[in-house]
Amino acid sequence: MSASSPIPQIAVLDAGGQYCHLIARKVRELGVYAEVRPSATPASQLAGARGLILSGGPASVYAPGSPTVDPAVFGLGIPALGICYGHQLMAYLLGGRVEQGERGEFGLARLEVTAPSPLLAGLDPARPQVWMSHRDLVAGLPLGFQAQARTDTCPVAAMGDVARRLYGVQFHPEVVHTLQGREILNNFVFSICGCGQDWDPRQRIPGILADIREVAGSRNVFFFVSGGVDSSVAYMLCLRALRPQRVRGIYVDTGLMREGETEFVRDMFDAVAPGAVRVEDAAARFLAPLANVCDPEEKRRIIGEMFVQVQEEILEEEHFLEGEWILGQGTIYPDTIESGGTAHAALIKTHHNRVPGIQRLIETGRVIEPLSFFYKDEVREIGRQLGLPEELIERQPFPGPGLAVRCLCTDAEAAPERLEEGWLIPLRSVGVQGDSRSYQPILALEGLLASWVDLHETATRLINRVREINRVVALTGAHAPLERLRVRPGSLSPDRLARLRSADAIVRRLSRESGFDRLVWQFPVILIPLGGPERPDSIVLRPLDSVDGMTARSVEMDPALLRRMAAALLELPGLAAVFYDLSHKPPATIEWE
Ligand code: XMP
Repeated sequence: MSASSPIPQIAVLDAGGQYCHLIARKVRELGVYAEVRPSATPASQLAGARGLILSGGPASVYAPGSPTVDPAVFGLGIPALGICYGHQLMAYLLGGRVEQGERGEFGLARLEVTAPSPLLAGLDPARPQVWMSHRDLVAGLPLGFQAQARTDTCPVAAMGDVARRLYGVQFHPEVVHTLQGREILNNFVFSICGCGQDWDPRQRIPGILADIREVAGSRNVFFFVSGGVDSSVAYMLCLRALRPQRVRGIYVDTGLMREGETEFVRDMFDAVAPGAVRVEDAAARFLAPLANVCDPEEKRRIIGEMFVQVQEEILEEEHFLEGEWILGQGTIYPDTIESGGTAHAALIKTHHNRVPGIQRLIETGRVIEPLSFFYKDEVREIGRQLGLPEELIERQPFPGPGLAVRCLCTDAEAAPERLEEGWLIPLRSVGVQGDSRSYQPILALEGLLASWVDLHETATRLINRVREINRVVALTGAHAPLERLRVRPGSLSPDRLARLRSADAIVRRLSRESGFDRLVWQFPVILIPLGGPERPDSIVLRPLDSVDGMTARSVEMDPALLRRMAAALLELPGLAAVFYDLSHKPPATIEWE
């Protein structure tokens, strides 16, 4: 589909993935359309913009091959704002001097405005907190520039050439820890660039529907829907744009979904277009090859390959590969840019998009992606506007391999080992240490919850001290003391999956009823093969707060809620104990496998 405006009002020149998307999102929140462009975009292609922002990035301007911009952008007469690396790059390209500081400056700093500046106008000096993350700094100003603010360790925390409307800030106005960041971006976008408000994702819906009709022409659209927000909203837009008879959705039930998941997805779409989503029950096909598999990577490989097979068969069977069908996808804006997206998202998507039939559709231009210009929070707004239930809109992320990576399996029997610090459970889970994944046993603590102080600090200290572990859990309730529990053989069997499903449903219900679900970003519930002969398994609760899943903090739980959850779970048959995972990511990962 074509962009709605060929040149956005604000172009963010991308010097390093994560930063630039955050900036563009913050500008859009002000009601001004911003797009990310490669840093080296020729100045001639930026000529229609009202303002340019040079993003932060991990590099040093002197490092060979570091990102740069076309120096001619500074001669366009368009206002520009450099942020962090962008600030240094602007100084460097315009003849200033950048040096490595004596020490880096990472974290919070106090900004002191030292000269009048349209960029920093109206800031409250009582709220000087800004967020810094840099080692290099601007040591010599380019001609025409003036230093406008400093911090204790950074003499040029902000600079500007007011006549040419060129500005740079060493700190990050786009992050929440810069308390007046929004005001600074507001000054740049409106007072300095003179932008008008032109962006409200909700107002875009008629345009998106018109685009869908144009791209589809007389062809029909089919989707693989997952029950996640992006594919659901994209599918819904197509249903609105075209007659429901022209849009098909296929939902593959892997047998690894949570309780009520398949019914939820079917009912939700049936309410708008009865029968529009076909549910493909592939549970038996997924579970058979997984029956005796314990290794996490092997589980993922099998599930990925099975997805490919099942999708390919559906494409053939329903004649979707023929001329009158095109494929709809829920791709969102960060996925369309090379440097964007999270490593994980990229990984799993290659799995699903690698189906040869789908590849062929992509190569022949038979793909429609109605959300490719929107960020996740904008997609949620569009979904709300379309009347999708809040339950779907605010859905927590759920991994593609589903409950398979939350149901730990083993073929060995072993007893927990007493260490000075706690019990070493001879079951391994995945963690991130350095840049690579680790696979280590778990340390379980007993009695800690009685005192309830510094739980998470204790856990962090222990992970740093006990070399063989990457995760610490605390026992919150059990039918037997820890020393009597044993790791015993358990596979991805229907009865264990059913046990996990029931436990997960209880946790979700209590979490919703208590309002705790509003405090968490994701709340995996994990089944581990640790128990006794009658009650062979245990449950681990993993409530987390995160922004993008790349890092995450274990969320503190109200002791009363934790006890209530444990009590309800221990009434389920087959469950011996309930644990609370205290580990952050890193060093642990969000999922256990
Ligand atoms: P980890 O466990 O690596 O997870 O800390 C980070 C985020 O990614 C999700 N996740 C996945 N999502 N396919 C997905 O679609 C996967 O294979 C996968 N593995 C992990 C996880 O739920 C968390 O939000």
